[in-house]
Amino acid sequence: LADGPLKGKRIIVTSGPTHEPIDPVRYIANRSSGAQGTALARSLAALGAEVVFVTGPADVAPPDGVVVEKVQTAKQMLDAVQAALPADAAVFAAAVADWHVTNAADSKIKKTKSGLPMLEFAENPDILATVSQMKTGRPGLVVGFAAETDDVVAHATAKRARKGCDWIVANDVSPETGIMGGSENAVTLISDDGADSWPRMGKDQVANRLAQLIGEALK
Ligand code: C5P
Repeated sequence: LADGPLKGKRIIVTSGPTHEPIDPVRYIANRSSGAQGTALARSLAALGAEVVFVTGPADVAPPDGVVVEKVQTAKQMLDAVQAALPADAAVFAAAVADWHVTNAADSKIKKTKSGLPMLEFAENPDILATVSQMKTGRPGLVVGFAAETDDVVAHATAKRARKGCDWIVANDVSPETGIMGGSENAVTLISDDGADSWPRMGKDQVANRLAQLIGEALK
């Protein structure tokens, strides 16, 4: 482990999309690349943190120097996070599917002339809200992300209150920004101190800056 301000601190980071099965060969997913979560885990490890990196099936490889827990579904991600507790901080950068298919088939669904498959959905657990609202053993700092396409600060501020996390890192993922799947990000950090909008910069720079702030907060 590196020497640095986060030495001795255990931090859980979730990252990437989740895959929710429809049948053994099909799933529902989203366009998260895992780039920002991976960059953040790398920055935290570089500052000396012991990082448990819980990742869905991402496009980018996990960083070196972290403990990697690979998962597919939201439910598995929650289980992995709970197994990794206690922690000093938890950062939830994953794009978790809101729903899973309750009538997923055990064998490949066949194309038939008699009709189309009907999928039924149920809500997934909200990992960020679950951890934020823990009565005992809650990490001292819980950070969520909020990907919005409009009224970013207003929506993210409401989300922070609803979920009960300490910080929200909000960003605009409108297609014209190129942020989702791109290498840059423009974020607003929402905390008790209000909303702080950062200039557009590389996801690795956003990660470094966030890791620095987490280091100061855990001091
Ligand atoms: O509600 P929304 O999905 O916009 O919230 C985003 C934040 O909540 C992110 O930090 C994401 O990782 C987290 N989240 C979660 N579990 C869910 C849904 C979102 O941890 N089921």
